[in-house]
Order: sequence, then C-alpha cells, then structure tokens
Amino acid sequence: MMKILFFDTKEYDKKLFNEYNVDYGYEIKYLETKLNAETAPLARGYDAICIFVNDLADKDTLEILKECGVKLIVLRCAGYNNVDIDNLPDGLKVVRVPEYSPYAVAEHAVALLLSIDRKIYKAYQRTKKYNFTLNGLLGFDIHGKTVGVIGTGKIGRAFIQIMKGFGTEILAYDVFENKEAEKELGFRYTTLDELYEKSDIISLHCPLTKENKKMINAESIDKMKDGVVIINTSRGKLIDTKSLIDKLEEDKIGGLGLDVYEDEEEFFLNDMSNSYKRDRGLSLLLSMPNVVITSHQAFFTREALDKIASVSLSNIKEFIETGECKNEVRK
Ligand code: NAI
Repeated sequence: MMKILFFDTKEYDKKLFNEYNVDYGYEIKYLETKLNAETAPLARGYDAICIFVNDLADKDTLEILKECGVKLIVLRCAGYNNVDIDNLPDGLKVVRVPEYSPYAVAEHAVALLLSIDRKIYKAYQRTKKYNFTLNGLLGFDIHGKTVGVIGTGKIGRAFIQIMKGFGTEILAYDVFENKEAEKELGFRYTTLDELYEKSDIISLHCPLTKENKKMINAESIDKMKDGVVIINTSRGKLIDTKSLIDKLEEDKIGGLGLDVYEDEEEFFLNDMSNSYKRDRGLSLLLSMPNVVITSHQAFFTREALDKIASVSLSNIKEFIETGECKNEVRK
C-alpha cells in the first residue's frame, strides 16, 4: 500500500483528493504544515510526499527526504521552481501536473486587468455603501491597445487568444518561439526591449528560472510606456518589489494586478488578518489605489482542481507500475 504524506493542505484539497482516491485506495495523511528542512523528517515511513507551490524542497530538504525513504515527490501544481531539481538525490523522483487548466490562469489574468482598468474593486465598495458616483472610476478601452505577453506556453497562448477577442495587438517574447502559434493566433514575436517599449499592458506567463529572477526591475520598467499596466499571475520573484513600489509612486506604472508576490510564502493562502505579522512591501502595495492583489488563486477553478487531483494520483499509479512517469521533472 502506497503511503503518501501531503504538506500545506487545505480543506478543499482533502475533500477533492479523498474523492479521487476512492479509485486508488492510497493511504494518505494530510498535514497543514509546509514542507521545509525542519518539517521534512515528518515524511519518515512514507513512500511519497505531495506538495504545493509554497512548500520548499531545497537541497537540504531533498537530502532529508531521501534519507527518510521517500521515493517520489508529487507536485500538485505546474511550476516546480520550489524544488532544487539540480540537486535531486538519486532514487528520488519528482512528478508534476504540467497542464491542469491554462484557461483558469489566463482568465484570472484578464479578470485582474479588467478589474484594474474599469476600477471594479472601487465600484463594488462604493455601490455597497449606496454611493453611485463615478469620480475616480475612469478607465480606458482595451480595444486597440498593444499587449505584451512574456511566455507563450499553454497559459500565455490562452491569454493571447482571449486578448485577441478584445481587438488588441499582441507582442510576445519567449526564449523558445512557437512560430506555428504565432501564425495561428495572430501575434508577433519580438525582443523584450521592443515589448517593453510598445506595450500598454504587460502580462507575465513564463516560469521562474535562475535567469529571469527579478526580470521586472527599475531598469526594465523605465523602458516601458508611462502608465503601463502590469499583470503577474506567474511567479512573484519575477518582479523586484522595491522597484515596483518606486515606479508606482513615480506614477510610471498606471496599474498593477498581482496574483503572486515576491515573498508570498508566509502570507498567501493563509488568514493573517488576526496576526501582527506584516510584509512591508506587500502592505505598501496593498495601500495603493491602482493595485489589485489576489492570493495565488488564478488556478482555483473547479475544472482545474479536478484535473490536479486526478493527474496527481494517476502520476503516482504510473510511477508504481513502471518506475517512471511521463510528467516527471528531470534534472
Ligand atoms: P508552459 O511550460 O506551457 O509555458 C512556459 C513558457 O515560458 C514556455 O513557452 C517557455 O519557453 C517560456 N519561457 C521559459 N523561460 C522564459 C523566459 N526566461 N522568458 C520568456 N519565456 C520563457 O507553462 P504554463 O502552463 O503556460 O505556465 C506558465 C507559468 O504560470 C508557470 O511556470 C507558473 O509559474 C505559472 N502558474 C501560475 C498559476 C497561478 O495559480 N497563479 C497556476 C499555474 C501556473
């Protein structure tokens, strides 16, 4: 019987995985605590662990897991920047859910954009109080604007498809250009510099790597149009928070929509409202009138959760039966 220890689990994870596990019958234990070098010893006696975006599998943690007898790390997400793949010990494998719903994330990016542009978050609070004035709610037409998309993988392409429907021109940047998609969806690949220079709206859809950490910083923001709207549903560490705050204060950035934050690990997905613990950068951003922040919820649709649970459990089955898995993350 496969024994699996889940880290950083919420009620919705338990409900869903229990439902899908009826077909597999794995022995599952759910922990609320996050994975790190301190909590890794809890995995002793388990064959596999299942982790999420803010669990940390760094070199030390991986070595402890291996020593505890864990053979498989099951990521119930697509991104794997939180696992130190280069230092993965032999005999320990990592699998992920490469695609669960690109639409969920792409649609959330659009929701952030519309909310910022048309000030839906302000209007909601006003009308609740029976205040029906329009002062301060002026937006802009998205139609006719230029949208810069960084990363044209599954989510980036789903985002492009939606934005084409708005009547926008799309400039894209990717380290691997997909010429077929470029032709089919009607966008144009360009350099990062041209994308920064010409885009009214910039949306990030690339993974976090060593090379692109803090790629959005004071220098790159200075290359952008005045009043640019930046949307990040990808990974928080792609953006340097201090530069973001400076450039919002200078009025260089016109609007900001974040579903991820540089130092989100301690805060996002948790109720911190009764705690005195605060992150200064996050607090400053939250206090700004043209910033909308959601708590890593872009993936959170019924369709995506179903796929996450079913693919995670079938990844384990494939691993048990063949010792391999098509969704393995390799060094
Ligand atoms: P994907 O693997 O299909 O596409 C990623 C694309 O980014 C690829 O085309 C790749 O060539 C490109 N890329 C890699 N390095 C790059 C760089 N330095 N600059 C520009 N492009 C680069 O991945 P997918 O499914 O589209 O997901 C993208 C990212 O979205 C994930 O890595 C993850 O960080 C984030 N994500 C966020 C979620 C949320 O709930 N907020 C949920 C799921 C994913």
